[in-house]
Amino acid sequence: MSSKYKSRRAFIADSAKGAIAVSIGLSAAGSLIPNDTTANNYSKHLIFTNYDQQPLPYKYDALENVIDAMTMEIHYSKHAATYAKNLKEAAAAEAVDVSKPLEDVLAKISKFSPKMRNNGGGHYNHELFWQCMRAKKDNNAPTGKLAAAIDKTFTSFAEFKKQFGDAGKNRFGSGWAWLYVDAAKTLKIGSSPNQDNPLMDISDIKGTPLLGLDVWEHAYYLKYQNKRADYIENWWNVVNWDFVQQRFEKL
Ligand SMILES: [Fe+2]
Repeated sequence: MSSKYKSRRAFIADSAKGAIAVSIGLSAAGSLIPNDTTANNYSKHLIFTNYDQQPLPYKYDALENVIDAMTMEIHYSKHAATYAKNLKEAAAAEAVDVSKPLEDVLAKISKFSPKMRNNGGGHYNHELFWQCMRAKKDNNAPTGKLAAAIDKTFTSFAEFKKQFGDAGKNRFGSGWAWLYVDAAKTLKIGSSPNQDNPLMDISDIKGTPLLGLDVWEHAYYLKYQNKRADYIENWWNVVNWDFVQQRFEKL
């Protein structure tokens, strides 16, 4: 990775421990993105570059009352860490240049192994998921341009939450619910199975993810058991709308 490339990492997340650099987002990296990766229309400003697991931007107990500390610890240090480990194994076996954006691989994931698909998706999805959350906040809701776009597209924030929640509740088995932006720059809600995501060329839904919700049982089972709907309802209290809005405004 060139020093020029590193210097363009733009997104900085604050945590209780201090500022932690997060490798989601580049201010300008157009020259580093192969032309064929534009097929899924993901924004060059929202590139996630790093195959390594990044530090969690808060403590394991930061989301307590919504997601318990033990769930967070197991989820981050076991499940997500394993995706990152297995992704690097797959990248080494399949001669992937890990100094280039992971999105390059995701956009052409049909050409790679199931191990790359499962763990590349798993790594990307979880790195995004951690950033999509913060400590519980009263009256938690988007503001500004994102709030206006949600109102315009889904008629209201309440209706958006209903549709997004339904996407999560109705995902049979394991998977994710997404708020994403499609090729026409329209906000969309959808879900994907397993560790697939809208960046993948094999995905039924295609675009740039803004917000992702993990509905695998490992994300909620210790606290909520079979009650996925309760997990989703509580999860709205810890969504980091500032982060989501920053992504939206970089598109
Ligand atoms: Fe997960």
